Amino acid sequence: MATPTPLHADPGFGIYVHWPFCLSKCPYCDFNSHVRSEPIDEKRFVAAIAAELAHRASLTQGRVVRSVYFGGGTPSLMKASSVAAILDAIARLWRQAPQVEVTLEANPSSVEAGRFRDYRAAGVNRVSIGVQSFNDADLKLLGRLHTAADAMAALDVAAAVFDRYSFDLIYARPQQSVKAWRAELKAALARGSDHLSLYQLTIEPDTIFERLHFAGKLAMPDAEMGRAFWDTTQELTSAAGLPAYEVSNHARPGAESRHNLIYWRYGEYVGVGPGAHGRIMTPHGRRAQATERHPEMWLTVVEADGQALVEDEMLSSEEQGDEFLLMGLRLSEGIEPARFEAVAGRRLDPARISSLVAEGMVEVTPAGRLRVSAEGFPVLDAVVADLAA
Ligand SMILES: C[S@@+](CC[C@H](N)C(=O)[O-])C[C@H]1O[C@@H](n2cnc3c(N)ncnc32)[C@H](O)[C@@H]1O
Ligand code: SF4
Repeated sequence: MATPTPLHADPGFGIYVHWPFCLSKCPYCDFNSHVRSEPIDEKRFVAAIAAELAHRASLTQGRVVRSVYFGGGTPSLMKASSVAAILDAIARLWRQAPQVEVTLEANPSSVEAGRFRDYRAAGVNRVSIGVQSFNDADLKLLGRLHTAADAMAALDVAAAVFDRYSFDLIYARPQQSVKAWRAELKAALARGSDHLSLYQLTIEPDTIFERLHFAGKLAMPDAEMGRAFWDTTQELTSAAGLPAYEVSNHARPGAESRHNLIYWRYGEYVGVGPGAHGRIMTPHGRRAQATERHPEMWLTVVEADGQALVEDEMLSSEEQGDEFLLMGLRLSEGIEPARFEAVAGRRLDPARISSLVAEGMVEVTPAGRLRVSAEGFPVLDAVVADLAA
């Protein structure tokens, strides 16, 4: 039985490792992911990741690692020995919490599922699988290389190998009906995973889907239908005991992603690998860090300088306050106003809170936390903008 994640808990410290390579580029994706026709020099990339880890460790002495997350791109293209080498480097550089969460994002091809046992032996204890859809026609439309049968098989392997696993689905897809999504989500919930990430399809800049959308060739749901997709998602997941604990993330209480909670609760994390972000505390305040995005350029810079930060800035109190709201209000637990004051150096405007409460967009809990209501979540960006103003 999972232990519930306590509110008010110290968000803690985590490590994000970005693996930027994919076998093909999905037409909706704007993540920092790249396809290479030649085999990449995995050993060199792993050595460079270890170098960046050593650099970040020098900036975060004394922290205890609560979570490590391999994201991408497609980290399940990595050899298990590479994952083990990175985890060994982390173990040499920082102390680790007794139940450190180690997550790896995986695509559900048979080859990748075949590596799950080796990943577990390397120290991974949770996988997050990019299923996206259980329907072959839609998987094709999404440009995915796997089939629904591959996804089922990968989930079976994950369930057999790991105590904790999650999978991603994308909904509100072109031409998808709410009825079809209802059936698909019911099937997904019947798989019995205690964590699910359910993302409404968004059209991202500089993607093939954006071009198709502009050309009128992608029939996307209108706002009313988008709301119907959202309501169906909340209804079915809550009924199944996996309510949303964050806008797009659902878990049985206690099975939340500890890593992502570090981001949303505005904790500390370092990011290594191409295009990785970090937020660390220094005696002078909170710093925002980001690395060079282009994989081979990142590699060259790290090999020369030991790290490839292209952004390393102190955040102003105002910026920290905005980030804190933007992150914390994504969570159904909401935020602690006193922590906002400590971070932002100012109080939230009581008049704004009152008017948002009157409009039914936010709620103040008996413990004094401020959280977005069920009505407010579908228009979260507007609610946050209003509070942050
Ligand atoms: C870094 S990606 C996934 C990792 C892995 N490479 C994969 O594709 O399965 C994280 C997740 O974001 C979601 N995602 C990416 N682009 C999206 C978009 N435009 N709209 C909605 N969800 C998106 C997908 O569900 C994806 O699994
Ligand atoms: S969705 Fe995943 S597999 Fe597809 S391009 Fe993006 S990171 Fe790669």
